[in-house]
Amino acid sequence: MSKDSFKEDDYPLGVELTEKLRQLADPYHDGMGGCHGPDHTERVHKTALHIGRLMEARLDVLSGAALLHDIGRRYETREQGKICHAEKGAELARAILEKLNFPQSFIDETAHCIEAHRYRGDKNPRTLEAKILYDADKLDSIGAVGIGRAFLFAGQTGAKLHNDTDVDILDCKPYSREDTAYREFKFKMSKIKDRMLTPEGKRLAEERHVFMEVFFDRLERETKGAESVAGDFSKIRSARG
Ligand SMILES: [Fe+2]
Ligand SMILES: [Fe+2]
Repeated sequence: MSKDSFKEDDYPLGVELTEKLRQLADPYHDGMGGCHGPDHTERVHKTALHIGRLMEARLDVLSGAALLHDIGRRYETREQGKICHAEKGAELARAILEKLNFPQSFIDETAHCIEAHRYRGDKNPRTLEAKILYDADKLDSIGAVGIGRAFLFAGQTGAKLHNDTDVDILDCKPYSREDTAYREFKFKMSKIKDRMLTPEGKRLAEERHVFMEVFFDRLERETKGAESVAGDFSKIRSARG
């Protein structure tokens, strides 16, 4: 790490422990591709710390939870969804943190953030840190990053760049050739801003939402041979306030 890139703020657990957790988490992220690989984890870590600072949350818990939050994903993929990666991740994280002699209360709080980061069933985020991790994870699936991830995913499944105008996206099946990034936007990404749990998460989600609307609207115009940039940038600027 270069001296210039070091920011103490980014290491609430200290440099040594943070790097140790990254090193231990890395093998679990191997082969998870561009959508759920270590770069996703690093973005979630940064966003979680940003929201955590504003809300005076426990940054040490947030840091550990963000770095380990998706380590159970490969088990869910391997078992074709029969295992919940959040629950498996919490179990694996407990074992890692116990080996590193973290205090029990830290382990419990971190494991709760991880097991609740999908907000499924009775595993709902109860603590401030769990709510922040949930928001940070969701934010990574919208905005410019979300668009990038949606196209990456569409590419991996062999889908097209966009749907023809005569295709009704309501009829398109997930994982099919018509399962485009636009379909993902319409059915999933466009709803995320209404599911945020913290004020800063909501603010960021609304800003990212406007950017996606502008992007997909323009994509549509370009694919029809008509394009005009007038208005695109002012919409984004006014969303930023
Ligand atoms: Fe996850
Ligand atoms: Fe995630």
